[in-house]
Amino acid sequence: MKIIEIEGGRQLSGTIRISGAKNATVALIPAAILTDEEATICNVPEITDTDVLCDILKLLNVKVNRSTESIVINTKEMQNTIIGEDYSKKLRASYYFMGALLGKYKKAEMYFPGGCSIGARPIDLHLKGFEALGATITTDNDKYIVEAKELKGANIYLDFASVGATINIMLAAVKAKGKTIIDNAAKEPEIVNVATFLNNMGAKIQGAGTSTIKIEGVEHLHKCFHEVIPDRIEAGTYIIIGALCGKPLKIDNVIPEHVDALISKLEELGINLEVGADYVTVLGREEVLNPITVKTAVYPGLATDLQQPLTVLLTQAKGKSKVTETIFENRFMHVPYLNALGSNITVKNQTATIIGPTKLKGAEVGATDLRAGAAMVVAGLLAEGKTKITNAEHILRGYEQIVEKLTAVGAKIRIIEI
Ligand code: EPU
Repeated sequence: MKIIEIEGGRQLSGTIRISGAKNATVALIPAAILTDEEATICNVPEITDTDVLCDILKLLNVKVNRSTESIVINTKEMQNTIIGEDYSKKLRASYYFMGALLGKYKKAEMYFPGGCSIGARPIDLHLKGFEALGATITTDNDKYIVEAKELKGANIYLDFASVGATINIMLAAVKAKGKTIIDNAAKEPEIVNVATFLNNMGAKIQGAGTSTIKIEGVEHLHKCFHEVIPDRIEAGTYIIIGALCGKPLKIDNVIPEHVDALISKLEELGINLEVGADYVTVLGREEVLNPITVKTAVYPGLATDLQQPLTVLLTQAKGKSKVTETIFENRFMHVPYLNALGSNITVKNQTATIIGPTKLKGAEVGATDLRAGAAMVVAGLLAEGKTKITNAEHILRGYEQIVEKLTAVGAKIRIIEI
């Protein structure tokens, strides 16, 4: 097990550079198998989710050439092999191989994906989309066989604007015959990044980033070069850290539009920010922070992935703040640990009520999932004394060089392996 240990209560100043987006990368790597040639992806974060996806590529006999920040993926000798549970369960994004293999070979055989336990996370919308394109689905416990004689474009309406279903259907549809229209598609920037990648390979996708995506099927996808967008959730997490401990803290390589909802909430709280073309600097904060009401929503609303780190900041506002989680059923697992550090938070149904300000004091806590773990890092940096975060592997799935980045701006933080 990995443990992150933090000596909190220090002021942080300097610049933190944001890495490539995890949730774009984890879709781009499976998407790359759709080319019959070679795809080069750069600005790839070195996180454990990237490692697992590269292992799946190797299982499929795909040549993977990884150097710092870039991956060259060559599919010339690829084989459509079953993706076993030992691979699929390691992360949620393994499910993108379902859409990509179906698109390429008209058949995918794999097990149910893993990922953070933040809710039931069914994949019914993905499967309905595949069926609409002409696939049949056979399940055997957790194993899925998705296959089609031919994939034909279709009109697909998503009951919920799911990120995963939108991308997976796009992957299956790029080589289908005719036109596919996805209505009520998710609009997250990662979807635009994946669509741009596929278009760079010769796909014909229009409307990514809006709620209607149109895909005209093509027969062949060629060689391409692509860059991963900066990680808006990593950026948001460090901006929140800056709001608590920055003196000042510059977050560089950000697309500020991607963190608009967070920025406006921080301004409402009383955080002073300078927003540049590709950076956000946290200059300081008002002496007394205003309590606020927050509701997570699909993009461009406030990202559910930032809800947990943001809750930590709200422990410092004067009065009663409220956070309502609308995307996942189980995303308040950080609250008992935060309360162990000294906060006053109660959760009822899907709303957390936070009474502040409260002084946080270091203690031993755990990372129950990736963003809950990130919230513990935020809290540990703020808390006086030593905080130990167990199960820190969860955090390393999504934050590249978190210890190095924070150390460089003055934090006392280290990883211990036991
Ligand atoms: N949903 C269904 N059926 C489906 C698909 C989704 O009911 O077939 C429900 C989910 O259960 C959930 C909601 O729809 O309640 C939203 O799920 P969505 O499909 O949008 O999320 P996801 O694809 O599973 C991705 C990110 C998450 C991020 C969400 C929302 C990846 C690998 N994961 O998950 O990231 O929270 O979108 O933006 O891209 C994280 O990075 O920590 C993380 C959990």
